[in-house]
Amino acid sequence: MKKRFNVLVTRRLHRSALDELGKKCNVFLHSGKIPIPKKTLINKIKDMDGLICHPYDTIDKEIINNAENLQVISTFSVGFDHIDIKVAKTQGIEIGYTPEVLTNATAELAIGLILDVLRRISEGDRIIRNKKWKQIFGAYDYTGIEIFGKTIGIMGMGRIGQEVAKKANGLGMNVIYHSRKPISKNKEKMLKVKYVSKNLLYRNSDIISLHLPYNSDTHHIINSEIFKKMKKTSFLINTSRGKIVNEKQLIIALKTKQIQGAGMDVYELEPIKKNNPLLKLENVVLAPHVGSSTKETRQKMSDITAKNLILGLEGKKLLYSV
Ligand code: DGY
Repeated sequence: MKKRFNVLVTRRLHRSALDELGKKCNVFLHSGKIPIPKKTLINKIKDMDGLICHPYDTIDKEIINNAENLQVISTFSVGFDHIDIKVAKTQGIEIGYTPEVLTNATAELAIGLILDVLRRISEGDRIIRNKKWKQIFGAYDYTGIEIFGKTIGIMGMGRIGQEVAKKANGLGMNVIYHSRKPISKNKEKMLKVKYVSKNLLYRNSDIISLHLPYNSDTHHIINSEIFKKMKKTSFLINTSRGKIVNEKQLIIALKTKQIQGAGMDVYELEPIKKNNPLLKLENVVLAPHVGSSTKETRQKMSDITAKNLILGLEGKKLLYSV
């Protein structure tokens, strides 16, 4: 008889994905407190062959060393900074992730944040709900900024950065970018984008949108030194990872009007604390880490996460592996 694999799933997935897993695996679906507490994870992972995790589950050395049979970790995300990849790989553990399917959703959210913060949509919503509309009735009391004709500087020209560039083109923006390596000239032409140095990007962009992975090289790369270089009229958009930006220094830059505003989907600590000063700033739009959170995309992510896990457990090539 074929061996059934034991797999731990740290959060509910779509029914179709759970059914698929159930055909070949004994599925242990964590219920109760999320993210799964570390102690519970350590206890439960002991006899597991596979693990399905989410960005909020920290899969560190201690967890991996406790998982005696673990063969595959499949994360429900494109980001994998929550997994100690080096330790996992040393132990021969395969790691699956879900790129591509969330490119459009995340790029849409970046554009949404740009529109929202420049045109002050959420701020206006608060004004109406607080019954203060009359206070901004004058023709010049409540003006936003048009995005048409503005320069967007995209940091990181991977899949999501490129999708943001396409959408920004469609909205009449000029697109400049910086990434570790420039993309091909052909692609630059197709996407109507221009490669520039980091410094030029910081100084010339009206909007800076971050599309970088988080790692030791990108930790806090956006900090007070960078805010000093940015235009006073500029906006920062972050849909990648919170720790790429030094949040304390961002708050100072926003309060002192070193930059004009920010649109954020990610934070240094998630969920943010109740006393986070960002909550008091009107020139910031805050989304609760929902870049990939659309019905369409989450279904695809769910299916790929399950498929990656099963393929890995069967010793086959994963659809997407790190
Ligand atoms: C990811 O997939 O990494 C996104 O941040 C959504 O969680």
